[in-house]
Amino acid sequence: MTANAVLEVAGVTKRFGNHAALDTVSFAVQEREVVALLGDNGAGKSTLVKCISGIHRPDQGSIYLEGSPVAGQDSGIGVVYQDLALFDNMSVAENLFAGREPCWPRFPRGFGLVKRRTMLDEARRTLHRLEVKIPNLKTPVGLLSGGQRQAIAVSKGIAFARRIVVLDEPTAALGIRERTNVLRLVRQLPEAGIAVILISHNLEEVIAVADRAVILRQGKMVGEVAATAENHETMVSLIVGGSLPLINGKTGQE
Ligand SMILES: Nc1ncnc2c1ncn2[C@@H]1O[C@H](COP(=O)(O)OP(=O)(O)OP(=O)(O)O)[C@@H](O)[C@H]1O
Ligand SMILES: [Mg+2]
Repeated sequence: MTANAVLEVAGVTKRFGNHAALDTVSFAVQEREVVALLGDNGAGKSTLVKCISGIHRPDQGSIYLEGSPVAGQDSGIGVVYQDLALFDNMSVAENLFAGREPCWPRFPRGFGLVKRRTMLDEARRTLHRLEVKIPNLKTPVGLLSGGQRQAIAVSKGIAFARRIVVLDEPTAALGIRERTNVLRLVRQLPEAGIAVILISHNLEEVIAVADRAVILRQGKMVGEVAATAENHETMVSLIVGGSLPLINGKTGQE
């Protein structure tokens, strides 16, 4: 066990049929650290996210949150999935609280009345804190723009995280203002004692917000470097592997 690790991925293998989407992947995220998870399309990043959140069960290996095997939705891990898990027919407020609706009476769970007023007020407070502008929180999410939907998914992931947030390409569909907002939020999380795993194909973004980058290639972890501008080329070559295609007669590794 790594000292002070918030999250530890230890020898995780996940197979789909006989294809290993993840092959004995190991790394740790320290307290207040922002770790970028890099890799080409199909490298296994989203599969790893789903192993961390418990959607997938690894075939081998384990994942520990502060030394204990991760378990269930209330584990303190906030996740923003790439395939935005929002319910189109439900409102913004309902989406933010889906599965965690404030109820009265609180017990037995599932039998109380949902406190809609409380939910709406808390949703408004959460989005305001995150500077996400949605005109009407009662609007069904299916009617919002792609960027607004992504902003809500990010807000939901961040709002309930206590120890670590995992963001799978959170800025991919965002406009410039929204992208800046999300990156600002990511940078603030460590100050609140929350570590971050950020998946992004945008290395400028990674260099701007991450401390360290972990690189996956075809399911294997192939490197781990400081996420600095000096390491830009190293990150590119770890992502693509081997020699890069010729650009203007030079290989990308020269
Ligand atoms: N549920 C599944 N069933 C079968 N194969 C899967 C499943 N999920 C992922 N895979 C396969 O596992 C591999 C890794 O996929 P994954 O989605 O983790 O890649 P990724 O690194 O997130 O890529 P991207 O950058 O495109 O999002 C791919 O070859 C993919 O086809
Ligand atoms: Mg993915």
